[in-house]
Amino acid sequence: MTDTVTLTIDGKAYTLPVVRGTEGERAIDISKLREQTGLISLDPGFGNTGSCESAITFIDGEKGILRYRGIPLEQFEENPNFIEVAWLLIFGHLPTPEEYERFSKLLTRTANIDESMKHSFQGFPRSSPPMATLSAMINALSCFHPEFQAVDDLTQLEGVAARLISKIRTIAAYSYRRSRGKPLIYPDPKLRYVPNFMHMMFSQPYEEYVCDQDTRDALNLLLILHADHEQNCSTSTVRMVGSSQANLFTSCAAGVGALWGSLHGGANVQVLRMLQHIHKGQMTPEEYVSRAKDKTSGELLMGFGHRVYKNFDPRAVVLQRMAERLYKRMKTDDPLLNIARKLEEIALSDSYFVERNLYPNVDFYSGIILRAIGIPVNMFTVIFAIGRLPGWIAHWAEQNESATSRIARPRQVYTGNPETKYVSLLRD
Ligand code: SDX
Repeated sequence: MTDTVTLTIDGKAYTLPVVRGTEGERAIDISKLREQTGLISLDPGFGNTGSCESAITFIDGEKGILRYRGIPLEQFEENPNFIEVAWLLIFGHLPTPEEYERFSKLLTRTANIDESMKHSFQGFPRSSPPMATLSAMINALSCFHPEFQAVDDLTQLEGVAARLISKIRTIAAYSYRRSRGKPLIYPDPKLRYVPNFMHMMFSQPYEEYVCDQDTRDALNLLLILHADHEQNCSTSTVRMVGSSQANLFTSCAAGVGALWGSLHGGANVQVLRMLQHIHKGQMTPEEYVSRAKDKTSGELLMGFGHRVYKNFDPRAVVLQRMAERLYKRMKTDDPLLNIARKLEEIALSDSYFVERNLYPNVDFYSGIILRAIGIPVNMFTVIFAIGRLPGWIAHWAEQNESATSRIARPRQVYTGNPETKYVSLLRD
């Protein structure tokens, strides 16, 4: 197979290099295109643009494959351990027992946030969306950790990663408690990552919340399923902000903002609203699917479709299995799960969805699981952010370490006025 391609413009041939990935992917390297030809490429939404080379996550969207550092996602399903996967993504290998213990201790030691930061929660209205508070508070960590303005070696990376991964759950839990007018609960050094988060969310000063094994496993697995997804919108945002040499905290705060939108992580909230809407009898599943196909309705089948997957999103498959298992163990049922199953069945046999390769994505079943373990709807996207954080850190660090990375600065094709004389319309 050739390692170059030839592009002919106005009868002149240009040779462009082809870059190969380890799984056989090929990309035309157009980094010298403008220099050589005077032309740029145009690709709104970056559907055909590789912004970097990366060794973190592999997706084959046609086959429905997702691997973290080469390990298929499904292999994390038994005894799920989010912190082990976070280490894998950030440092490129599974942690040794010593590395795991050291990192766990660091997470425990750094779980608390500065007392003065706690006062900042009071400055937000109680109605504040937790994603807004989360982004603001992650950015505020820059003020408390000037020692991590730059990250120059692996020890520093471990230090900043542990602080962020540990404190995000404290901040997340506090943003929820603030929204409910409840007192803030300190992290408990005896508890591991997930039980400690649930403790800060749900314990009362007079009554301790105890996290059972099913909840612990479900949340660990759910966080793992969200942990990275190569160059998605929020991760690309983190990389873009980081490319200017902005620090990790502020880059991740921007990532939270990007994740919040309904077409990205915010879709998990919209899926639940859609299921509740149908459950209340305001529409049948069939009517909802019909509306989603009607371009004038402004509705979409939320939790369906994906830029990369043209087959089942493997995370949705695991999540559906997990939802069925969880409800069976809890010996209960959720009417919303039945509605989700019905919507999926209708859509997967409808030519509109079949022709466009639209399948359930990660957001379709995640809300059902979060509901089962008692997480309120306004925290769904926050949980996605906690899960995605290791991916953001891994990508920021990969870019930070790369000798070839440059500030991200796309070009444009200008379509505005030609040169126009300034004639003010204001009176003296
Ligand atoms: C995430 O990128 C990632 O990796 C993201 C993510 C991650 O882990 O980081 O996987 C997480 O963001 C999941 C996606 C969550 N969003 C939703 O569930 C919202 C509903 N889905 C869509 O809006 C849409 O499918 C996107 C945003 C997910 C993908 O958008 P694309 O790639 O730009 O596709 P498109 O909007 O151009 O759709 C192609 C066609 C269009 O129809 P035509 O113009 O060709 O006739 O499919 C239609 C769309 O109208 N379509 C849908 C649909 N999704 C796409 N029609 C109805 N319902 C839908 N959900």
